[in-house]
Amino acid sequence: MQPRRRDQNSGRLSPDDPGKSTGRALVIGPYRKEQKSGALRSPQARLEEAIGLALAIDLDVIDTGIVSLNEIRPATYIGKGKVEEVEGLVKAHDIGLVVMDCALSPVQQRNLEKAWGTKVLDRTGLILEIFGKRAQTKEGVLQVELAHLTYQKSRLVRSWTHLERQRGGFGFLGGPGETQIEADRRVIEERIARIEAELEKVKKRRKLHRDSRARVPYPIAALVGYTNAGKSTLFNRMTRAKVLEADMLFATLDPTLRAIDLPHGTKVILSDTVGFISELPTMLVAAFRATLEEVTEADVILHVRDISHDDTEAQMQDVQEVLKALGIDEARRGRVIEVWNKIDVLDAEARARVENMAARTAPDHQPMVVSALTGEGIDALLSAIEGRLAETRIVIDLVLDGTDGAGLSWLHRNTEVIEKSVQDDGKVAVCVRADPVKAAQVRARFAGAIPVS
Ligand code: GTP
Repeated sequence: MQPRRRDQNSGRLSPDDPGKSTGRALVIGPYRKEQKSGALRSPQARLEEAIGLALAIDLDVIDTGIVSLNEIRPATYIGKGKVEEVEGLVKAHDIGLVVMDCALSPVQQRNLEKAWGTKVLDRTGLILEIFGKRAQTKEGVLQVELAHLTYQKSRLVRSWTHLERQRGGFGFLGGPGETQIEADRRVIEERIARIEAELEKVKKRRKLHRDSRARVPYPIAALVGYTNAGKSTLFNRMTRAKVLEADMLFATLDPTLRAIDLPHGTKVILSDTVGFISELPTMLVAAFRATLEEVTEADVILHVRDISHDDTEAQMQDVQEVLKALGIDEARRGRVIEVWNKIDVLDAEARARVENMAARTAPDHQPMVVSALTGEGIDALLSAIEGRLAETRIVIDLVLDGTDGAGLSWLHRNTEVIEKSVQDDGKVAVCVRADPVKAAQVRARFAGAIPVS
């Protein structure tokens, strides 16, 4: 391990300045030597990201280090020698929390906490803390709490099963330990049920909002991208509005919306979204799906990339995977415009290489090279959005009442009807294609006839 004091090469944090810090922490990157999935990212880059996450919850990162692993130890994840080495650091620096950038089992977490006499947070725990801190809307807060409880519950259930096995399967005997765990589990389950019910209500209200917005016939452009890629900066540049923007991970958790004018007068609603990161725990992807609803419904998706980052390719793949998980598959990739941001950071040679690469890409996938900071390339980006909107035709499925002849003829007049069939219940299923403006009119006029997927 090569511990490194964070304050020596970053002006962002000084351990001597307590500021608004929540604790003195170590960040350890225990990475497997031959790890395939991490092949695109160097251990150093992975550690840097973990440090960034720790800073995002105002931890005082006193020391950091990488532990190269040949194998994962079932009891403590890292080997005995390393556990002792970290213990030494904990004592020497009066550390209260150790961040392990990996997924720890409940047993490993407990053993490490005991060995070091500190709190131990793994990657999922750390991300949950960040989401908790950044959630702004009611829905965001509820979703984070739900994810947190699900995480806790999975830990309880797993340790409970583990105890059962130890006792040779006589589950009905139930010692005091098990009773407590069961009681905890019941409390958590009740809380989960309450949150789920409340989330349903919030979602319904949100849908009402969306329906009323659908009456504004503006297409939507959603900004997505890896955390720190520059989405908020670009959003501000394009809207000249003020939203939370910081050199900090996850500065934006909840979508922000603004309407802007494109060069030829087309209006578009720009939507800023949460930043993505690698290895997002599955339970969080599910919990945050609703936060990203704006993206699934967007007419154009701006995939903002920090083209100056060493890991820009790996980051792109992570974002594409999340988009795929959201149902934005290859077939609908025509909606995505890649925005290669932070071009100002590159030296002349790297810049020429990037511009060349962009120019060589097929015209319908051509990335836009910009600097959100200096404003370079923004006008071209706005034109590209307008161009893409003009060619983006949207497909909408509707189920009309069999008696709604006026509706059907309106659809024939205003949209391209791709498919029409009469269902068993007498209703008519229609699939139409329209430009974004007409599509918005379809959504407004036929709001009740569009099945919620
Ligand atoms: P999350 O909220 O974490 O998802 O981040 P984000 O993608 O919204 O990034 P944000 O706009 O907060 O920018 C992150 C950092 O990059 C900030 O320090 C910005 O000033 C900086 N930044 C953004 N765009 C550019 C750019 O074009 N050039 C340079 N040099 N820095 C930029």
